[in-house]
Amino acid sequence: MEQQQNIFLKKTFVAITGASKGLGRCIALQFAAKFPVNTVFVLMARNEQALENVKSEITSKTPNVTVLVQQYDQGSVGKDYFKDIFNEILSGNNLSENDFEQFMIVHNCATATDGSKRSLELCDSVEVRSNFDINLTGMILLNTSFFQTFSDSKKSRVVVNMSSISGSAPMTCLHLYCAGKAARDMYMRVLAAEEPSIRILTFAPGVVDTDMLKGVERGCTDDAMVAMLKQFREGGKVTLPEIPISKLVEILEANTFENAVFTESDTLF
Ligand SMILES: NC(=O)c1ccc[n+]([C@@H]2O[C@H](COP(=O)([O-])OP(=O)(O)OC[C@H]3O[C@@H](n4cnc5c(N)ncnc54)[C@H](OP(=O)(O)O)[C@@H]3O)[C@@H](O)[C@H]2O)c1
Repeated sequence: MEQQQNIFLKKTFVAITGASKGLGRCIALQFAAKFPVNTVFVLMARNEQALENVKSEITSKTPNVTVLVQQYDQGSVGKDYFKDIFNEILSGNNLSENDFEQFMIVHNCATATDGSKRSLELCDSVEVRSNFDINLTGMILLNTSFFQTFSDSKKSRVVVNMSSISGSAPMTCLHLYCAGKAARDMYMRVLAAEEPSIRILTFAPGVVDTDMLKGVERGCTDDAMVAMLKQFREGGKVTLPEIPISKLVEILEANTFENAVFTESDTLF
């Protein structure tokens, strides 16, 4: 295999979705300490104030990086919503594709499911569609938009797909979330087959103490799932975001992962 270079060495345009809190905030903070100072970060989520807070945290620790904030809703899959998002970020900030040696998108944004419902209770098309809009359709459309803007295949292009064991192991109550994660992982495998020059890391962070996990713990009404989540907490399997994200950084530094192959921070089962 061709020797790959540490991904953090190049001047990069980095978009991170779901960067307002949880794992995404942690990715933004850790990546900002690793990339060269002339890298540009775009933090993306719905809550603009929370994104500004993450931006302040980054710039207080690493004052020379450029951090931009982009409010968006990944569930807004109406016509053309995503089409020019990155072109407009470039033109609005006097930037051009030529300013960068590498382009990276971290698909971290996701939402869980209403854990009080079982699979056979899913009868509301709006509810089903809206979960897939955020977790799947919006991610695909944003990804397409990113690579339409950053189309130079001679430069390094990197995708981090935040995955989960839920994409391969059935989790009761998490039907739509599990199905969405499985579909995303397969989409990334197809992308890897079509575009071998794009480095794609499909990374599962384990069980992490974030608002998403707390929401699932609060909302899940399935006894087996409640027991499993309790076992994770009591057995010390629930980590702070810093732990899997340090592992993610190590994997990107080593840059020996296989494109779109499921990679876990730590084995859960
Ligand atoms: N926590 C875990 O145990 C765990 C385990 C395996 C995989 N993961 C994966 O890791 C990633 C991050 O999860 P997390 O635990 O950090 O979740 P989280 O704390 O709930 O954060 C989710 C992020 O996504 C953003 N988001 C949600 N809906 C959005 C929308 N419609 N449009 C744009 N942004 C939206 C949220 O920001 P706004 O609310 O500001 O929009 C937030 O920044 C997800 O892909 C998740 O599936 C997590």
